[in-house]
Amino acid sequence: MTNPRIAAVDVGNDALKANFGKMENELYIPNVVAQDMEDRPVIGIEELNDKEVLDNIHIRVHSPALEENNVVYRVGNLATKTTNSTELDPGSSKSEEDQTLIMLFASLALDAVESEAFKAAKNDTIDANYILGTGLPLREVKEGKDVGYRSQLLGSVHQVEFLVTPKHQGKKVNIKFDEVKVYPEGFAAYVNLIMDNELKVINKELINKQILIQDIGGLSTDIAVIRNRNVDDDKAQGFNLGVSESLEQIREEIRSKHGVELDSRRDVVDIITRKNDRHHIMVKGSRTNVHDITDHILLELAKKEYRFLRNVWSKNSQSEICYFVGGGSAVLKDYIKALNNKLDGFNIEFFEDESESIWMMRMPIIN
Ligand SMILES: Nc1ncnc2c1ncn2[C@@H]1O[C@H](COP(=O)(O)OP(=O)(O)OP(=O)(O)O)[C@@H](O)[C@H]1O
Ligand SMILES: [Mg+2]
Repeated sequence: MTNPRIAAVDVGNDALKANFGKMENELYIPNVVAQDMEDRPVIGIEELNDKEVLDNIHIRVHSPALEENNVVYRVGNLATKTTNSTELDPGSSKSEEDQTLIMLFASLALDAVESEAFKAAKNDTIDANYILGTGLPLREVKEGKDVGYRSQLLGSVHQVEFLVTPKHQGKKVNIKFDEVKVYPEGFAAYVNLIMDNELKVINKELINKQILIQDIGGLSTDIAVIRNRNVDDDKAQGFNLGVSESLEQIREEIRSKHGVELDSRRDVVDIITRKNDRHHIMVKGSRTNVHDITDHILLELAKKEYRFLRNVWSKNSQSEICYFVGGGSAVLKDYIKALNNKLDGFNIEFFEDESESIWMMRMPIIN
């Protein structure tokens, strides 16, 4: 028996973010899956092993926790290339979707097949024990859905079988959880603020303050109210609005105005946030400003997000600061700051390094 390995996994609506062991391995996988056949046709099968694993996740998943057991899936980038791929809807419950479990198991299996910790296996089947920390939206925790989610994870062995995936074809990983902790998503960010990776408290001043954390994700915005070192479930609020729709709208306007087809929302994010040549695209070889398009769409979204903040702050008037986290905060930072300067002047803070604000959501394991 090998020692259990720590896994902190945030299955975001837009992307799964995970890290493993003592920060030994990190994964970022777009949250997209598509049902598939066992033998997916590959051009140049002999070159399969030269391809990127993360672009070719093709698995079968066996688990009693699933609604549909033993189904074959494409996961992440590979799934985006199909026409039958599914992304999560704003109204759905993460804790009740097979998709959430497929993403979670896929990330753990990928970690297991590549980690030294489980290399002792003599054949192609690996037994991997994990201690898992993961999050659910506040709304679902409030409804008590974390209890069932946790027990179905703990209750059985979950198997991921790699099919047409480079380097791992034919490998099977039996995932077992020794321990599962489910946090409301905003709380994980809080723990990250006050503790370092070794779980030492690094921010003593913050620990006894009442603070807000606004997490702007792809499809949702959660504002956690933290008091007495805990999420105040009654005060926290979740909203079905994220940044994905606005990114899609920008893409659409660029297409109709300039005839340029951007590949994905990620391209839009790049145009908005890159250091050089921000808000410019190439149109038929000419550098073209698209600031008019990005500006009005993002400002509109920032106003809505600012209204959420006002609303929650007015009900929690003794809050000392609000931290903005999540990918959406990186996108909207300048707009929200400008609005705040003009309007209420709340004490708010962003994370200067965009990637930090996303990794803030990694789930630390605390006892
Ligand atoms: N480094 C970055 N800079 C700017 N934007 C980013 C960055 N990384 C991701 N984004 C964008 O921010 C959006 C939200 O990403 P995030 O990972 O916070 O969502 P999520 O956690 O998956 O969604 P949810 O919180 O709704 O479950 C995505 O559209 C993503 O493209
Ligand atoms: Mg999120």
